[in-house]
Amino acid sequence: MELESDPSLGDAESRVTVMTSMVDYNELIPNNVGLASDRRLKRALERWHPQFMKWWKAHGPEHDQNKKVYLRTAVSVDKNGWAHYDYVKLQEYRWGVFLAENSTTDKRITFGDHRGDPVWREVPGEYRGSLRRLIVTQGDTEPASVEQQRWLSATAPSLFDMRSLLQINVEEARHLWAMVYLLVAYFGRDGRQEAEDLLKRRSGDNDKPRILDAFNEPTPDWLSFFFFTFFTDRDGKYQLASLAESAFDPLARTCRFMLTEEAHHMYVGETGVSRVVQKACEVMREKKTDDVRKHGAIDLPTMQKYINFHFSVSTDLFGGERSTNAANYFTQSLKGRYRESHIMDDHRLKNDEYLITKVESGRMVMAETPALLSINERLRDDYIADCQRGVDRWNKIIAAHDIDFEFKLPHRGFNRKIGQFENVSVTPVGDLIDDETWEKCKVQWLPGIGDEEYVASLMEPITECGGFARWIAPPRVGINSQPIDFPYVRF
Ligand SMILES: [Fe+2]
Ligand SMILES: [Fe+2]
Repeated sequence: MELESDPSLGDAESRVTVMTSMVDYNELIPNNVGLASDRRLKRALERWHPQFMKWWKAHGPEHDQNKKVYLRTAVSVDKNGWAHYDYVKLQEYRWGVFLAENSTTDKRITFGDHRGDPVWREVPGEYRGSLRRLIVTQGDTEPASVEQQRWLSATAPSLFDMRSLLQINVEEARHLWAMVYLLVAYFGRDGRQEAEDLLKRRSGDNDKPRILDAFNEPTPDWLSFFFFTFFTDRDGKYQLASLAESAFDPLARTCRFMLTEEAHHMYVGETGVSRVVQKACEVMREKKTDDVRKHGAIDLPTMQKYINFHFSVSTDLFGGERSTNAANYFTQSLKGRYRESHIMDDHRLKNDEYLITKVESGRMVMAETPALLSINERLRDDYIADCQRGVDRWNKIIAAHDIDFEFKLPHRGFNRKIGQFENVSVTPVGDLIDDETWEKCKVQWLPGIGDEEYVASLMEPITECGGFARWIAPPRVGINSQPIDFPYVRF
């Protein structure tokens, strides 16, 4: 359905008020949660919707909301419905609430003390606080990333990329809807309050920051955006995958469905970086020089610094190596491990050990630690292995150009702010150094002002169909089998 707006009403808030009085919520919010027959839930979402629109307009993408964008919208969870493509004005995007369908009616809990019991359709009283905290922490990252990426549309290196950014933005906003649905449907008044608070915190704000540090870092340019979607959205994948194992079935199914969209965000990141690498390599070959900045490309050593930064900030998101919180979540069957049912053990872990890297008497050592306490570290290990596969693919592009350079993930202890590496200085290859050496050397390892200024100087918008900024190669394929010079955004 089309939303109507009264042109005489200038500001976003009053326009929203007019919209809401005419909104048919069954239509406006595509869903498979029975919204039409649940009046209490419908009312709660009706109350939240205008606040969401106000937030979206004030803190969502700085982009003419009347421009039509070729977007994918999930209109249902089945094969044909979850990827429906059409031109949409951003303010008319239909943010739906979807839960993945269960493959069986007799679904059982796969881990923790409740392993083997039927999954929960309601929130058990004793776990209410823990579950709410897990949902709020996950939910907070969704609007945060939209806020972080707010200014990027104005400097998109092509219409293709502008469309990818806006696609990610509307989907992160839909993930917010998904978490808000859980809060208002299952947590009563506290849940409604949390849903409102999700719109009040702001990325990077000193007084009311977003909950997790990586989501308060700025995403000032497109290189940062691609690395953010590669590294930080990938943290999202691992968090969602472990929540998708939860005994609280509505949470599990919500996260399962979100994972389908998360895959696309990481794809944008990985292919985005690939195209920047491709361009750098082409220039190096063609001009027979390593100094590609002279020719408007981004050099590989600068990209390595961005890898070091985004990887280390994102590894922090997994929390401390030893965590009683994580152990409790696991024991209580609230949050599992990555692909829990594929792991060959007893899924209770009371007597198991897990190897983690530790700093002991000024040295790095591998140490056996109770597996329950090491849940975070295990998830981080899965994440790091996944990151490495992407880095290997970037290195293949470099090798194909016969260039002697390899990207490397830094050591897990590098530039960490959380956990046992918090108070030590570690080089990218994993050597412990004193603080003075760290201060002296960190400009070689992390993006400095010069790097950021150079990257910023490249950020000029390209808005003609099929045009690309000179620091990035075109993609190999278009969206939904459309050509690369397709008008992905209509002006
Ligand atoms: Fe998300
Ligand atoms: Fe994402």
